[in-house]
Amino acid sequence: MKQMTPEKITAFRTALVGWYKMNRRDLPWRLNQDPYRIWVSEIMLQQTRVDTVIPYFERFMVKFPTMADFAYAAEADILKVWEGLGYYSRVRNLQIGMRTVIEEFGGEMPQNLKDVLSLKGVGPYTAGAILSIVYGLSEPAVDGNVMRVISRIFEISDDIMKPKTRKIFEDILYQLIDPDDPSSFNQGLMEIGALVCTPTNPMCLLCPLQEFCSAHAHGKETDYPVKIKKIKTKKIERITMIIEKDNQLLVEKRPEEGLLANMWQFPTIESSLLDHPELIRLAFQKEYGLDLEWQEEPFTHIRHIFSHLVWEMDAYKAKIVAEAHTEQVKWMNESEMAQYAFPVPYQKVWQAFLKQKGEI
Ligand code: ADE
Ligand code: SF4
Repeated sequence: MKQMTPEKITAFRTALVGWYKMNRRDLPWRLNQDPYRIWVSEIMLQQTRVDTVIPYFERFMVKFPTMADFAYAAEADILKVWEGLGYYSRVRNLQIGMRTVIEEFGGEMPQNLKDVLSLKGVGPYTAGAILSIVYGLSEPAVDGNVMRVISRIFEISDDIMKPKTRKIFEDILYQLIDPDDPSSFNQGLMEIGALVCTPTNPMCLLCPLQEFCSAHAHGKETDYPVKIKKIKTKKIERITMIIEKDNQLLVEKRPEEGLLANMWQFPTIESSLLDHPELIRLAFQKEYGLDLEWQEEPFTHIRHIFSHLVWEMDAYKAKIVAEAHTEQVKWMNESEMAQYAFPVPYQKVWQAFLKQKGEI
């Protein structure tokens, strides 16, 4: 582990566990160490804030006081008690997991990582939380809050969005965790993450771990954790029509601004919301003044990835039913087309068109 002597590790544990015992919130799932209650609370807390979870947890325990009450309840009833919490697969998986405990583990929550991890809906975080809180086992529980605190204390620059980064945190925590009280240690880290070491304004002056914290020493608290945001790629479905007459193809110039400005393409519409041929026909009419008929099946499908969006484009052979009344489109023969710039996805459409015509 990064620079911590055994003495320092002991001091860290004492500071963290001591602070937790003085400052822990009285949350309903902290009443006792009943595995059923802890399991339900950890699943609820996975994607949901503590304040939101509290009333749901209380209602859940009134409705289903024991694991058996919940495990064999009707789906409509378990969904109802979860209504508004979101991520409903959580409650279905929880029920499957609890049936497994009843039917395969004699109704007792297993006491080892492998068996707990085998339960539906239980990942490494939840398994660590259950084993440490219920049985006092030295298993780390690494969630987003814990990664934030630990990444600051040790100035860990690995991208926390990458799945394999969790292991780096687990390795540190296996060494750091207090074998005398893993439950308070883990919940203390969660509590500091929730109350003190918050995402944008960590309250370092009130933090029991301040003297151990590298990021604080360097004034770099908010440089951690490192999260490399994936740019969300947006998918755009497009339909393009290849319209041929007397060895000429109908083309248009793209707008002067924006993506692929001023390049050329075949008549194209965005079709993401158009789920019926008649809507597509109307869209070409509106956009180009073209009344078209086209083959039932596209002759090619092109996927083109730009930095932040993806085109999924179907290309059809089409013919004009009624004459065009628009300036927007222009007939070009192949050698004219070669003079103009066509974006790669349209070059591919063109190549596919020539190929199935037998010209290449
Ligand atoms: N978030 C996840 N588990 C928690 C717990 N046991 N207490 C408080 N917040 C939590
Ligand atoms: Fe977080 Fe500040 Fe405490 Fe470091 S000193 S763990 S940055 S609150």
